[in-house]
Amino acid sequence: MAYREKRSWPPGPRGHWLTGNTRAYESDRIGFLRRCHREYGDVFSYDEHTLFVIDPQLTHEALTGTGDTFVTELAPFDMRRDLDRATEHATSWLPERRAAWPGLNRTAVARTDDLTVKVLEAVIADGAGREVDVLSTMRTLTARTIAEYCFGADHSGVTELLHETVRATQAFAEASHEFPAWLPLPRHRRFFRTYRRMAETLTALVVERSGSASGTPGSDLLGFLLAGEPSPPVDTVVSTLHSVLMGGHGVPAAALTSVVWELARRPRLVHDLRDEADGPAEGGTPLAEAVVRETLRLYPPAWLMTRTAAKESTLAKWSLSPGDDVLLNAYLIHRDPRWWPRPDEFDPTRWLDGRAAPGPAYLPFGAGPRVCLGAALTMRQLTLTTSWLARHFTIESPNAQSVTVEFVDRLAPAHLRARFVPTG
Ligand code: HEM
Repeated sequence: MAYREKRSWPPGPRGHWLTGNTRAYESDRIGFLRRCHREYGDVFSYDEHTLFVIDPQLTHEALTGTGDTFVTELAPFDMRRDLDRATEHATSWLPERRAAWPGLNRTAVARTDDLTVKVLEAVIADGAGREVDVLSTMRTLTARTIAEYCFGADHSGVTELLHETVRATQAFAEASHEFPAWLPLPRHRRFFRTYRRMAETLTALVVERSGSASGTPGSDLLGFLLAGEPSPPVDTVVSTLHSVLMGGHGVPAAALTSVVWELARRPRLVHDLRDEADGPAEGGTPLAEAVVRETLRLYPPAWLMTRTAAKESTLAKWSLSPGDDVLLNAYLIHRDPRWWPRPDEFDPTRWLDGRAAPGPAYLPFGAGPRVCLGAALTMRQLTLTTSWLARHFTIESPNAQSVTVEFVDRLAPAHLRARFVPTG
C-alpha cells in the first residue's frame, strides 16, 4: 500500500468497499466508461491494477509497445498473471506471424472472392426468405469461409469445432472476472476439452497434408505454410492455423451482423449499393467499402483491447508495475467528437474520396506488432459481402429498430433477426 501511495496512478471511481466497480461496470459497461471518461478524463483507474485509456496516442503507444513493455492476453482465464509465459509467447508468436503473412497479404486475398460468393450462396441464398438469427447465421458463414480458406475443401470437422469453441468460451467472454484455471469448474473442463480437440484435429490435418504429395502448395493457407523455406515445425503451423481460425471467425461475424443491422434500417443505402454493384466492376465498390469502414468505426467488434505491463514502465505520467492491466477502448475513441465530426452518426460518405483521414483515432484492427493479421482478407470479404447482399436481397428485420448493442467479449447487436428476401 505504501508503494501504491508513492507511485503515480490515475484517479477513478472508488466503487463499493468490497466489490469495487464490478457491479456498476457489469450493469452498463459503456455507460459506466462514458461517465468515468467525462469525470476523470482520458486515463482513469478501475482498481489498483487496472486502468482505462481513451486517448488515441496513448493507445498507440501501448499497442506498439506490445512484446516489450506489454504483453497481450492469451486466452480466456489464461496465464494473465504468468508474465514469463506470456512474454515467452510474445517472442514465439513472431515466426508464426511471419509464416502466415504470405497467405494473408493483399495479393493472396485477392483470390478469395470465389470462395466468399460460394459460401454466401450456400448459407444465405439457400436459406433465403426464412427469418434467422443474424449473428449465428454470420458465424456459420465466417466459420465455413475461414475453414475453407485454411484447408481448402478438406476442412471436415473444423467448422463444427469452431462453433463448439464459441459455446465453450461464451461464459468467459461474458464474465468480467476470471477464476483460476485449475479450479475444476464444468466450464473450465469444457474449455480444455474443446481446446484439446481443436489442437488434435489441426495436428492431424497438418501431419496428413505434410506427408502427402496432394494439396498444391499455396492453394490454401495450410499449403502456403507448408511451402515455407525452411518448412516450419508442425507446432508452429498448428498454432498459426489456430490463431487464424479463431481470429477469422467470431470477430468478422460480429462485424457482418452490424453491417446487416445498418442495411436493414437503411433502404436508401441498399438502393445506392445495388446501383454501385450493378455498375462497371472495374470501378470497384467504394461505397460498399465505406459502409464497412463506417460500420467498424461505430461498432468495432474488438471494442476493448487488453495489454498487461510486463515490467516497470510509464504510460504518460502514470507508473505501471508488472501485471497491471491497461484497457484500450476503441469504441469511445471512435465516437469522440474531438476526432470525429458528428461521431454517433452513421455516415459512410465520410470515407469517400479520401475525406476521412483516420490516423490514430481509427483502430478497428488494432495497431503495432499485433495488428490484425486478417485485415486485408476481412476488408475484402466484408466489402464483397455487403455489395452482394445489397445486390441480391432486401433485408427485412422485425426488431432492427429495437435491438441494442451488447458490450461483451465482442461488440455486436444483440439478438438481431432478419429475412433475406431475394430481389429478383
Ligand atoms: C472485421 C473483422 C476483424 C476485426 C475487426 C479484427 C480485429 C482485430 C484486432 C483489433 C486485433 C488485435 C487485437 C489486439 O491487439 O489485442 C486482431 C488480431 C488478429 N486477427 Fe483480426 N479482426 C478481424 C478479422 C480477422 C480475420 C478474418 C482473421 C483471419 C484471417 C483475423 C486474424 C487475426 C489474428 C491471427 C490476430 C492476432 C494477431 C497477432 O496477435 O499477431 N482477424 N484482429
